[in-house]
Amino acid sequence: MIHNVGPVAFPIRNPRSYSNIFMATYTASWEEEKTGTPYSYRPAKEVHFQKTHSMPPQKSEIFKSLEGWAENNVLNLLKPVEKSWQPQDFLPQPDSEGFYDQVKEMRERTKELSDDYFVVLAGDMITEEAVPTYQSMLNTLDGLEDKTGVSLTPWAIWTRAWTAEENRHGDLLNKYLYLSGRVDMRTIEKTIQYLIGCGMDSKFENNPYCGFIYTSFQERATFVSHGNTARLAKEKGDIKLAQICGTIAADEKRHETAYVKIVEKLFEIDSDTTVLAFENMMRKKITMPAQLMYDGEDYNLFDHYSAVAQRLGVYTAKDYADILEFLVERWGVDKLTGLSSEGRRAQDFVCGLAPRFRKLEERAQERAKKYATIPCSWIYGREVQL
Ligand SMILES: [Fe+2]
Ligand SMILES: [Fe+2]
Repeated sequence: MIHNVGPVAFPIRNPRSYSNIFMATYTASWEEEKTGTPYSYRPAKEVHFQKTHSMPPQKSEIFKSLEGWAENNVLNLLKPVEKSWQPQDFLPQPDSEGFYDQVKEMRERTKELSDDYFVVLAGDMITEEAVPTYQSMLNTLDGLEDKTGVSLTPWAIWTRAWTAEENRHGDLLNKYLYLSGRVDMRTIEKTIQYLIGCGMDSKFENNPYCGFIYTSFQERATFVSHGNTARLAKEKGDIKLAQICGTIAADEKRHETAYVKIVEKLFEIDSDTTVLAFENMMRKKITMPAQLMYDGEDYNLFDHYSAVAQRLGVYTAKDYADILEFLVERWGVDKLTGLSSEGRRAQDFVCGLAPRFRKLEERAQERAKKYATIPCSWIYGREVQL
């Protein structure tokens, strides 16, 4: 089933010249044309169509039959709350006498970190803060939904506990950024509100095969990017921030392990469907969860944030290709046997994609090199180089 939900977009009221640096093709929604009222909770980008419920209903049985396996192999990758870190473990203690001194020290430590770095860290935090969207998305996967909100299937338990673990990431980065005094919290908070209101164009198709491939990819991507913000903080002497980002990265790694294991199991019991889902997701390209971010000003905010992350080496096109290569290797995709002819075609496509992607990206980036700078609302409108 295909739902056509586009075009829905923000109208451009005061387009700034820099908005045109990247391919902006926005159109006013028909509601706006009729009423003149911008529907500012709508996606900032055109979302073309969504295919839904692409998994044949009988396949839900597979996930039902995997419940015992998930109980023993997936839920054990969650950390009990009592053994989990909490944001407060890394932040100045508000009831202590030394609170103000601790905040002062913290601000001193951030001095060596650039505005660019804070743009990326703010973007990472905003991405984490949209966790309500990600929980909703997981609950759209056929056969895995938390039907009551307190369901005791291992899939539902995982989704809730995963969300609860993830929620600490945004909390910690948010409080850190607030105390650092380096960013405009109000515009960041607006961006979070817009982003959660806009949702996410996951292209899961409600299909758990696609969903778990996406989450495997995505958790590894966040592991890489938090790992890199940790490395950069360490290089500039902010050991505490390095510890914060490193601790979050370690959670992402554990989550990656869980999702990768699920897909490994799917390859084991239903390799044809799994390889086709892998091909499907890679053909569409894994889009980042915060792609629809908007701050009320910059219609290409996500592209700009990604460009800075790419330039700083926090998350790059090379990382994308590396993740793909890692997953192909980890799931032994090139060694799968007994596939249908369609499955074999998907296998060839997926196995040959990373080198092709690398070449295309290198060329695209050469062409895209513009060294433009743009004002960024998250750092009080100061310029940031793309
Ligand atoms: Fe996270
Ligand atoms: Fe994560």
